[in-house]
Amino acid sequence: MTGVVTLNPFSPQAAAISHLFIAILIILGGIFLLVTALVIVAIIRYRDRPDAPEARQVFGSHRLEIAWTVAPILLLALIAVFMIRAIEASDPPVGDEHPDIRVTGHQWWWEAQYPSSGALVANEIHIPVGKSLLVEVDSADVIHDFWVPELARKIDAIPGHVNHVWIRADRPGVYQGVCAEFCGAEHTWMRLIVVAEPQADFDAWQSAQLTNPPTPKEGMEARGLQLVKDQTCLNCHAISGLPGHKNIGPDLTHIAGRQILAGGAASNTPENLFRWLKDPASIKPESHMPNFQLSDDSVHALVAYMETLK
Ligand code: CUA
Repeated sequence: MTGVVTLNPFSPQAAAISHLFIAILIILGGIFLLVTALVIVAIIRYRDRPDAPEARQVFGSHRLEIAWTVAPILLLALIAVFMIRAIEASDPPVGDEHPDIRVTGHQWWWEAQYPSSGALVANEIHIPVGKSLLVEVDSADVIHDFWVPELARKIDAIPGHVNHVWIRADRPGVYQGVCAEFCGAEHTWMRLIVVAEPQADFDAWQSAQLTNPPTPKEGMEARGLQLVKDQTCLNCHAISGLPGHKNIGPDLTHIAGRQILAGGAASNTPENLFRWLKDPASIKPESHMPNFQLSDDSVHALVAYMETLK
């Protein structure tokens, strides 16, 4: 997946990396073909034959040695120029810009805050199309690496140290992101998606994130809400309007509006949410989400409530 995605950039930053990759691939491909051709010629032309005379013995050749020293130096210098240009294009200076999004890596999910509005989301970042956004990246536990290959370069998420990356999408769409630094058992399922949409849609999404979800008064939904309060859900997860402001686990205020669950280990359907709440390990074995040994009835009520959190 990675190779193909690298060749499919949707931002100037990602394009710079993609072009560098292609340029080096062409240079290395040329060297590979040249060496292969020379080896084949040598094998055929200088093979041992009956009655062949002893091969001519050659000791040193100044011309050849200079050539095979100078040629790689020139090639490496050319590649260095390409690389410096790609670094400049993929990593524009930050200056005194304020971040548009603050991303924090957690084992094994992504938290994202929008400082200008206060919106807080998990594993799903929305951005307006055609705008370069400054993303501030850090970590709550171990070293992770934030990577959306079609939109930006990689950047390490380091506890206690803030890094920056510019992200941009020139076409609307949903772009896959991953954690690109091994960070423990569920590193594989530390994915995210970036939804790039027109400014108006982005604004609508952002203001929707800021609203409190409705409080269900009766039925399964109300029972689910009661369970959220009675169990220890709110010790780790925040739901805006309910007590507690924890972000040990993902904020659940608008969980029903998201496309993925458990860092991308499952798509966000009521069936998968049921499986996840009933037995998290069946979806993501080493996840920090505990199994509360809830009855099917209770889990159905929780799912009914969470489906109201749009
Ligand atoms: Cu986080 Cu790998």
